[in-house]
Amino acid sequence: MKAIVQDRYGSAEVFRLTDIEPPQPGVGEVLVRVRAAGVDPGVWHLMTGRPYLIRVMGFGLRRPKSRVPGGDVAGVVEAVGRGVTGFRPGDEVFGTGEGSFAEFAVARADRLAPKPADVGFEQAAAVPTSGFAALQGLRDRQPVLDGKKVLIIGAGGGVGTFAVQLAKAFGAEVTGLCSSSKVDLVRSLGADHVIDYTREELTGPPRFDHILDTAGNRPLSLLRRVLKPDGTLVIVGAEGGGNWFGHTGRLLSVPLVSLFVKQRLGGIISVPRPADLESLRELLAAGRLTPVVDRTYPLAEAAEAVRHIERGHTAGKVVISVDSL
Ligand SMILES: NC(=O)c1ccc[n+]([C@@H]2O[C@H](COP(=O)([O-])OP(=O)(O)OC[C@H]3O[C@@H](n4cnc5c(N)ncnc54)[C@H](OP(=O)(O)O)[C@@H]3O)[C@@H](O)[C@H]2O)c1
Repeated sequence: MKAIVQDRYGSAEVFRLTDIEPPQPGVGEVLVRVRAAGVDPGVWHLMTGRPYLIRVMGFGLRRPKSRVPGGDVAGVVEAVGRGVTGFRPGDEVFGTGEGSFAEFAVARADRLAPKPADVGFEQAAAVPTSGFAALQGLRDRQPVLDGKKVLIIGAGGGVGTFAVQLAKAFGAEVTGLCSSSKVDLVRSLGADHVIDYTREELTGPPRFDHILDTAGNRPLSLLRRVLKPDGTLVIVGAEGGGNWFGHTGRLLSVPLVSLFVKQRLGGIISVPRPADLESLRELLAAGRLTPVVDRTYPLAEAAEAVRHIERGHTAGKVVISVDSL
């Protein structure tokens, strides 16, 4: 099969399109004929091996353990491994697997869900990683969002575009923070208020019950000033930071501050939870969640897709179409 392969860490030039043996599904696994693969900043981190912390976390010290990049996948079941009862060849699915920048990828059956018929493969592939981060950053920490005032920082990005829609679907009053070029997009996703950070910075009285921070590395003191005294701040991520730890220092320090104040401050590391994939699937099928696909690249241009992410101003998601090699 054709696949993008990476034998060392580095910039996007390490991606090369080549022919390799297709993977075989093991017990409890499904072989998916990939139609589309989602791209997000995590792919960039695993491509570059930065921050270095991820290398010691088990992704490969000197070179990536997984030669074929990509996790988010949408496609058609080609074959199922022993013990898989929920899927059959021909089923259209989406979820998270291994090595989705290829014609075939393997995924655990419990990490896949049926793709809603009205949702395209490219849209479905955009969902899992960013959708999990948005959903878990909102509902895990604030089970009742109805009537709450929610601020989404980075509202026009991969996680942000899902978060705005999810917070609205859960009944929140949503403010999105983004740059000028994304104001109309964020409003179209249902945000009640939009702040263009190129014109005004986040100021004003403490008014948010929940802040989901996906970008910008704003000082904690600034975020706490606009958060209600009993409000919740969830750090999802931000780019930049040092080569060793990136923004993880912030993820670790914020919960420490939380020990000494009434506001609940913390970060999340999102996980591919079957129940959350099902929630996302239901919202997609009901038309209450619409993935925003910024750009689609053919498989051979996977390096260009990651360069686009690297520039840091994606509007929604970047997707690789495996229909076009
Ligand atoms: N913790 C987890 O489990 C988890 C899971 C998924 C992702 N993440 C991390 O979360 C972050 C966001 O991911 P993503 O997929 O949404 O990235 P993305 O698609 O690249 O979007 C980032 C967004 O940030 C905006 N932005 C850049 N600078 C900003 C600033 N100063 N203030 C406000 N917005 C700004 C950009 O748009 P503008 O043009 O508007 O600036 C862009 O839309 C990344 O660091 C990623 O690694 C963490």
